[in-house]
Amino acid sequence: MLPAPVVGRKHGFRRSTSPYLSLSGNLLARSRATNLAVLGLAFIAGLSLLLNLQLYYFPSAHDSPNSSLSLLASLPKLQDNLEHLIVVPGHAIWLGRDPSLRAEPSEWAFQSYQASQDSSRLDVFFQHIAHAARIAVQDEKSLVVFSGGQTQRSATTTEGESYLRLALAAGVFPSTGFSRATSEDFALDSFQNLLFSIARFNEVTGHYPSKITVVGYEMKRARFLELHRPAIRWPEARFEYIGIDIPGDNSVARQGERENGYLPYVADLYGCHSFLANKRRQRNYSARYPPYYLSNPRLAALLMWCPPDHTAMFTGSLPWSAEHATHLQREK
Ligand SMILES: *[C@@H]1O[C@H](CO)[C@@H](O)[C@H](O)[C@H]1NC(C)=O
Repeated sequence: MLPAPVVGRKHGFRRSTSPYLSLSGNLLARSRATNLAVLGLAFIAGLSLLLNLQLYYFPSAHDSPNSSLSLLASLPKLQDNLEHLIVVPGHAIWLGRDPSLRAEPSEWAFQSYQASQDSSRLDVFFQHIAHAARIAVQDEKSLVVFSGGQTQRSATTTEGESYLRLALAAGVFPSTGFSRATSEDFALDSFQNLLFSIARFNEVTGHYPSKITVVGYEMKRARFLELHRPAIRWPEARFEYIGIDIPGDNSVARQGERENGYLPYVADLYGCHSFLANKRRQRNYSARYPPYYLSNPRLAALLMWCPPDHTAMFTGSLPWSAEHATHLQREK
């Protein structure tokens, strides 16, 4: 005879007959589930703690828009409250140590055509520096950028670095660790002074300025206002030029600026063809590669713009060109 089948054996418990057994089984099953849940939650909590510790100790890689680039992973905390860029274009390199000797020609490296510099001609560089510093001290949302590359063979540093060093040594800022002043170390002419300083502003703050003030030679006002500013499509209402010239008769220098700066730029808006490109090349003997393609990917197209038609405007999108954004939307 075959044994009678035991109903319910495959369930392990005969639930229907013993309320006690059924209850404890339920409890066991529930506590097993609870253990699992607790384990899972502990795991998530641990993971979140680790992530937070990482964010706490290595925050920079996460709050920078460029965090995907491992090269830039050690960015410091950005000064993201700044809005106003103050550019001081460099014209020579200060070699000195004593700021009180700043008007001596032996303290500077400059280009051969500037060789006949006398004291008042050199002191104007410091006037540009001091004036920019005064504006910066008054406007807490400003950043001064001293701009200019390693343009002189007889110097081992850049125009921008040397201007910043002179500014700090001469005490034009409230402290020697003044954080709202920096250098831009790659520009080789005025157009690059403007464009590279904007890129440098973005490196320091994480965004683009809403206002630009340039402090330079009065005789270069027309070039900045009428040529360099429109070439990068920077809005006129958010641009100011403060001109300080050498006292006395500047007619020769003015003529030189017109013939070697203004007019060549009228014919070559981005300064990248023959005459102006050659000028840059001569100042680029140190073969430095500007880092702005990497730090400012949104400016890459403008930085590379060199149209065969020498006066064709850059039409690509720019971080500061809202008109262009709406124009694109209309085309869709
Ligand atoms: C200087 O020369 C290097 C190559 O030698 C070039 O990559 C760089 O763009 C030049 N600098 C400027 C500011 O044009």
